[in-house]
Amino acid sequence: MQRLWLNCHAATMAGGQYSIIEDAALVTAGQRIAWIGPRAELPAGDYAETLDLGGKWLTPGLIDCHTHLVFGGDRSAEFEQRLQGVSYAEIAAAGGGIASTVRATRAATEEQLLAAATQRLRCLLREGVTTVEVKSGYGLDLTSEGKMLRVIRRLGECLPVTVKATCLAAHALPPEFAGRADDYIDLVCHEMLPALAAEGLVDAVDAFCEHLAFSPAQVERVFQRARELGLPVKLHAEQLSSLHGSSLAARYGALSADHLEFMDESDVQAMAAAGSVAVLLPGAFYFLRETQLPPMQALREHGVALAIASDLNPGTSPALSLRLMMNMACTLFRLTPEEALAGVTLHAAKALGLADSHGSLEVGKVADFVAWDIQRPAELAYWLGGELNKRVIRHAEEQTDVQ
Ligand code: NIG
Ligand code: FE
Repeated sequence: MQRLWLNCHAATMAGGQYSIIEDAALVTAGQRIAWIGPRAELPAGDYAETLDLGGKWLTPGLIDCHTHLVFGGDRSAEFEQRLQGVSYAEIAAAGGGIASTVRATRAATEEQLLAAATQRLRCLLREGVTTVEVKSGYGLDLTSEGKMLRVIRRLGECLPVTVKATCLAAHALPPEFAGRADDYIDLVCHEMLPALAAEGLVDAVDAFCEHLAFSPAQVERVFQRARELGLPVKLHAEQLSSLHGSSLAARYGALSADHLEFMDESDVQAMAAAGSVAVLLPGAFYFLRETQLPPMQALREHGVALAIASDLNPGTSPALSLRLMMNMACTLFRLTPEEALAGVTLHAAKALGLADSHGSLEVGKVADFVAWDIQRPAELAYWLGGELNKRVIRHAEEQTDVQ
């Protein structure tokens, strides 16, 4: 069925960059975009329905390409500790941090995790998010990682959102493997990844490459196994120190490397050559009160695609707003509002391996878009969170239940 959407302007991201059509028209056929362009050039056609968008600005549906939104418990007490001057690394070394969320996540039932994650995901959907990535990584054994990944799959069945599931079994060393990190990596490579992948629960594989997590050599073993299983990889790299994880990720053709505050020019070059997306996470930078900025100038000079995500997680970025992250990317990392918008649409899609189907308003792509009641697209990065008036269209259908 063909639908004609009229009376709008569009920030299309067509052709791989921020681009605009004033007084646009859009035609959807089934769940896809069949035509988009200036209204004056609209071809004559027999449309089943014509919908008036009331002069709103269209953007692609927003994509949050890095979240950990399935977890048990919360870490507000740790937040208070950090405000007293205790560092994230000190808390982790004392058995708090990720390990405390692992305890709470292991103790929670699948239903409890689903209910809590649904509430968090709804916050994102109310802002116009139509695609989200969610990582495991708070289970750290086969049973609990499987439980998290099943919850992640169920989120995509319960809510009107496309969900990509990333296995982050190599997130932290579980307490039962203390002092035996290589043995845990053996378990991840030989038992967990193959079993979880065989169940169809994994779309990509991620790891945390950091002194307080896993070494580049250990991460490489995980990547090798992912490659054998035919799964794309991503990496938490250069968040707190420089281990050249982003170069390692690039060598494995990673979809993305994420965080990246401590990357150097050689890492940037490697990512540019590999076409890996740099996912910037200003929420974690802000919440940990970091001061080392990602090398924005080098990233731009080498033409690395920049995505922005919430990193929604209980320890370092309890961020329930992707638009607030757009604002922080501008104020903290000096992105332009146009770069910020590309970062949560076009480049976020690429970071999820969805560049062919999502992230821009172009013929053949899935008809996921938001019609915003704003004067200029820059407003999306300007307001600090909050709910803007809008209409969300997913798979060419107007969504009403999450509004
Ligand atoms: O992306 N960097 C590692 N993982 C998460 C933090 C997880 C946590 O502290 O619970 C992140 O910042
Ligand atoms: Fe993360």
